[in-house]
Amino acid sequence: MSASSIRFLMCPPKHYDVDYVINPWMEGNVHKSSRDRAVEQWEKLHHILKDQAIVNLVTPQIGVPDMVFTANAGLVLENTVVLSRFYHKERQGEEPFFQHWFEEQGFTVFTLPKDLPFEGAGDALFDREGRWLWAGYGFRSELDSHPFLAKWLDIEVLSLRLMDERFYHLDTCFCPLANGYLMYYPPAFDAYSNRLVEMRVPDAKRIAVSEPDAINFACNAVNIDRTIVLNKASDDLRARLEEVGFRLIETPLTEFMKAGGAAKCLTLRVTEPLQPAHHAVVAIESRTIQLEGHLLDSGLINRALDLIVEGGGTFQVMNFQLGEQRQSTSTAEVRVTAPSHDVMEKIMSQLIDLGAAPQPQEICDNPLEVVMLNGVAPDDFYVSTIYPTEVRVNCEWVRVHNQRMDGAIVVSRTPEGVFAECKLLRDLQQGDRVVVGVEGIRTVRKTESREQRTSNDKEFSFMGAGVSSERRVELVVEQIAWDLRRIHDQGGKVVVVAGPVVVHTGGVEHLSRLIREGYVQALLGGNAIAVHDIEQALMGTSLGVDMKRGVSVRGGHRHHLKAINSIRRCGSIANAVEQDVLTSGIFYECVKNNVPFSLAGSIRDDGPLPDTKMDLIAAQQEYAQLIQGADLILMLSSMLHSIGVGNMTPAGVKMVCVDINPAVVTKLSDRGSIESIGVVTDVGLFLSLLVQQLSKLTSPYQIAQVV
Ligand code: ARG
Repeated sequence: MSASSIRFLMCPPKHYDVDYVINPWMEGNVHKSSRDRAVEQWEKLHHILKDQAIVNLVTPQIGVPDMVFTANAGLVLENTVVLSRFYHKERQGEEPFFQHWFEEQGFTVFTLPKDLPFEGAGDALFDREGRWLWAGYGFRSELDSHPFLAKWLDIEVLSLRLMDERFYHLDTCFCPLANGYLMYYPPAFDAYSNRLVEMRVPDAKRIAVSEPDAINFACNAVNIDRTIVLNKASDDLRARLEEVGFRLIETPLTEFMKAGGAAKCLTLRVTEPLQPAHHAVVAIESRTIQLEGHLLDSGLINRALDLIVEGGGTFQVMNFQLGEQRQSTSTAEVRVTAPSHDVMEKIMSQLIDLGAAPQPQEICDNPLEVVMLNGVAPDDFYVSTIYPTEVRVNCEWVRVHNQRMDGAIVVSRTPEGVFAECKLLRDLQQGDRVVVGVEGIRTVRKTESREQRTSNDKEFSFMGAGVSSERRVELVVEQIAWDLRRIHDQGGKVVVVAGPVVVHTGGVEHLSRLIREGYVQALLGGNAIAVHDIEQALMGTSLGVDMKRGVSVRGGHRHHLKAINSIRRCGSIANAVEQDVLTSGIFYECVKNNVPFSLAGSIRDDGPLPDTKMDLIAAQQEYAQLIQGADLILMLSSMLHSIGVGNMTPAGVKMVCVDINPAVVTKLSDRGSIESIGVVTDVGLFLSLLVQQLSKLTSPYQIAQVV
């Protein structure tokens, strides 16, 4: 198309002023612009454009001062226009005037549903080759408007999320140029949008502007072939644009910048030729989810909505039923929209972890894919979490068995009905049908009552504070002692995961006592804790250090090997106990009190003990078996074994993690405060305090009997 057939729409600034504040530029500028200077600046721009193209005018109207910004009239392609629906009521008055103009000119006019904001060419810019439409959202235009653009204009829409309120319209920070160039200000967009831009526009064609240029509205430029008309450009930007063949015309538009607009905002290109063969591809997806629980007082609704927006999506709350009584729960229906399938899946999997569920009537079957290779899941498999999970099959929710994190969900049909279970990747068999995507998945989260919640906060909130003072440690130990006592009295199950530090810090006698008195039902560790415990029992040292005097014993480093050797001679720890070779310590107590233990592996080649499982898969299976049915897991200074155990354990099992290193404690506390207590302290000290507390406690049941 020759330059002379290009047409623009402008609106003379007869009634222009800054009358209100709807963007940060207008702040402090109400009634501060000069009408005379505005007219003069506008005339200059008008003049420059008339040299390059045809300029049509729309009649300015009283009461709608921002009507000068014709970019926001609508989005034109060929003979079609999608009219703007302004976000702010201050500008909604412009809509009928622009509509009238388009109709008069014979455009086919599309209007968006009410309450679906979209601000025209201010937020939607064609690639200058017409290959696709860049569309902004985040401040003025709603992501949900983009599918309409794709449908009505039959063009691929690439949605970009605006993050900086100074750049509230796409055309304030993004300017597609001739020959596939793009001038833009990357920090105005989120990471995902930047990636999208980088995938579409090759490096050599991307001209990123500096913040000072962005603030001078350099990106708010009118591009006609090789000419770029803008308010102002730095020398550097000018040089870069000229180097690739553009010619710059600067024309001051400072009066309009007081309202947050410049060259591009003041114009609307009304001849946008249709490019054949680039058809609508709508990447945007929407789904409706349900949330139930103490949505307001637990902050759940806020967390869910924040998560959607932080993840790059947008939402619309369709329905909110407020639980009116203190105890009654609320329900909400939220429509989630995301710019692509990937973003949607990411947001949905996090929402599922919060307990969000899809509309049951919308989904009858979650898609399944068949395993083609043993031990390998289909690409898009759903990664299981610790939370009780249900999956949609045959229009019903089916509970998943063997719940654990980091697995895949396998669905099978048995004569008794549909069966779903978590399987580790390595256990997947060819032909297994695995849940993919997140459409028909929900996790069942317990709704806590207000009372539970506040008491939990009290007990465990110190956790978040990281390092805990000694006094706090005492308080927590008291709480844990009560729990141990209660589980003990009710015949429950406590599993201890322990590292060798328990021995070095003098914890042996205390842990031994806990085992002896029936507070421990299983012990998990590696080769080291057993070797150190046994070395101490046999020789009084741990890695050659005398545990009573705290000094190295001459030649003591050999004790370690001697301990291993003694047990190897007996054939097992149990045999050593039976033969009176081993007569005290943690593992002695385990054998004596029939407390099963599992020792998982060693990378050291000085052992291992005969009891140590060097086949890690077998060891993991033994661990998993021993934690079944646990009420509480006490993790004592063993980072890797503790994390391993944490991953195998479904939600609902209380965990106490003790370590001198706060990083270890925080790692384990990802599970949410209700279930994990972290104690940053010396593990020997912790155990001695715990034993002390326990001996102070009298069983509540005994008290009851006395009364
Ligand atoms: N004051 C106007 C507003 O905030 C400025 C519009 C600028 N237009 C644009 N296409 N960026 O809506």
